[in-house]
Amino acid sequence: MVIVRTIEALQEAKKACVGTIGFVPTMGALHKGHLSLIQQARAENEHLIVSIFVNPTQFLEGEDLDAYPRKEEADIKICELAKVDILFMPTIEAMYEADELSIGAPAVRGYILEGQKRPGHFSGMLQVVMKLLNLSGATKAYFGKKDAQQLALINQMVKNYFMDVKIIACDIVRDENGLALSSRNVYLNAEEKKRALCLSRSLKRATKLVMVGELSVEVIQKEMLEVLEEADMVEYVAIVDRAFNPLVRVEIGNTIILAAAWVGKPRLIDNLWI
Ligand code: PAJ
Repeated sequence: MVIVRTIEALQEAKKACVGTIGFVPTMGALHKGHLSLIQQARAENEHLIVSIFVNPTQFLEGEDLDAYPRKEEADIKICELAKVDILFMPTIEAMYEADELSIGAPAVRGYILEGQKRPGHFSGMLQVVMKLLNLSGATKAYFGKKDAQQLALINQMVKNYFMDVKIIACDIVRDENGLALSSRNVYLNAEEKKRALCLSRSLKRATKLVMVGELSVEVIQKEMLEVLEEADMVEYVAIVDRAFNPLVRVEIGNTIILAAAWVGKPRLIDNLWI
């Protein structure tokens, strides 16, 4: 594995890549969720590039940019063991100029749910993903369904800008109790970890309702909110189609059910594809 920190070094290292390139962008503090993307990309491509970059433009004023968990040494080991070919760990200066043109998230689907709670987040995320996809020259790029709205917007960007890369959606990885893995879970103490399970439990409640034929979004949302009472604060419960258009009734095969809530220090998100 080669570790590269500049654009020039990445371009140089890529000269050795003849054939398909799989690419997994991350912000590091790697866990088994990231690893599942890396392993799938390893299996499906001749070459594998992983990036670790805590992207400042997708953090809002007052969010945890400075405190975001950083575990460079452990991350390098994980990537080595997973047989990554190129690990790209750029500096902020390598990625950004002082005065840049910007990409804006779409006005509706980029400014609901996560986009409403974190205005500007998706524009910053799309900006860096565009840069990283261009730099990687990837044939296929891998993203987790955990960040479902992020994934939908990346798909839209690739479509709107006619980008020549295939976006692969990967399943959510959970711990043995059902908690969706996240770099931010390190902030949870034992008691909060238990309460954090109300997110996945609310999604299980939704599944049960759908399985007995209850398709009303209003009814399902109400029942989910009951389960989510264990959280410190619920930000939203939403039921949308795969492109993030609102639904009145669940459409089997085309629905995503999402929940966002604060438990202790972190803000947690989870979702379920039906
Ligand atoms: P990060 O939060 O590090 O996540 C990197 C990738 O791992 C994302 O595609 C995310 O959806 C996926 N992922 C995280 N937890 C997962 C889990 N439990 N199961 C499956 N996949 C999971 O998302 C970002 O970084 C950034 O926004 C990025 C795309 C790198 C742009 O800066």
